[in-house]
Amino acid sequence: MSKAFVCGYPISHSRSPLIHRFWLRKYGLDGAYDPLSVPPDELHALVSRIRAGEFAGGNVTIPLKEEAFTEVDRRDEAADTIGAVNTLWRDGVTLWGGNTDAYGFAANLDAEAPGWATGGGTAVVLGAGGASRAVLHALVERGFDVSLTNRTEERAEGLAAHFGPRVHVAPWEERQHLLQHAKLLVNTTSLGMTGKDALDLDLAALPSYAVVTDIVYVPLETPLIKAAKARSDLQVVDGLGMLLHQAVPGFERWFGVRPEVTPELRALIVDDI
Ligand code: ATR
Repeated sequence: MSKAFVCGYPISHSRSPLIHRFWLRKYGLDGAYDPLSVPPDELHALVSRIRAGEFAGGNVTIPLKEEAFTEVDRRDEAADTIGAVNTLWRDGVTLWGGNTDAYGFAANLDAEAPGWATGGGTAVVLGAGGASRAVLHALVERGFDVSLTNRTEERAEGLAAHFGPRVHVAPWEERQHLLQHAKLLVNTTSLGMTGKDALDLDLAALPSYAVVTDIVYVPLETPLIKAAKARSDLQVVDGLGMLLHQAVPGFERWFGVRPEVTPELRALIVDDI
């Protein structure tokens, strides 16, 4: 039986077990996927259990993604670029670390807003934290020019230096003015999350062909998603699909089946939010 896990500290909030156990049942596979509460100083011991063959691999979440980066033997290109590992697997004696967040972000838009990246254009990205790195990786790869803005401008400058000339920094105070040229608007800040302030932005200036997405999915309808839907001409994609799609590559590596993101899976997670 193949076994995999999601590790984090704490881990109780993770919806990954719901997703992977749904797929294990759906495809009739003899596998297991369990949440493990792992303090940072115990990650090394857990990784040894993958090396020893007890686990096929696992997911890594907050606060272990940067630590996992240094634990693996090899990393895929996304993990190297993003600077964090969220998926572990074994290939022979090699322990691999990958990052599936950029894939999940792009795959969600591919599914929900087909053609979103055709011809490139300008994407406006709000926020310069960990999630922003994955989004920037996907957008640069898909040929976008990015206007990046963040409350703490130095963080945005750091990401622009890392991702190269396609990423331009704009002052946070100017964020409203960026919208008129946006083909895509992405919120990667925690604004709009349950218990946090809403994102203060008037979407009136967005062109009618724009796509709006939020990586926040608790609540599912963030104030940004609500405001975008109120425009009725915009394409609007909530953040839950990114969570579902980022789980696909790991499941395929551990259990040998490429799973589908379906409305049934989505409904299961919506019930849990
Ligand atoms: P994550 O890994 O989820 O991206 P993070 O690294 O803590 O989390 O980043 C959170 C993002 O939300 C940052 O861009 C942060 O801006 P700062 O870099 O200035 O901290 C942004 N953010 C959080 N609270 C904010 C607020 N009240 N106003 C504006 N931006 C905020």
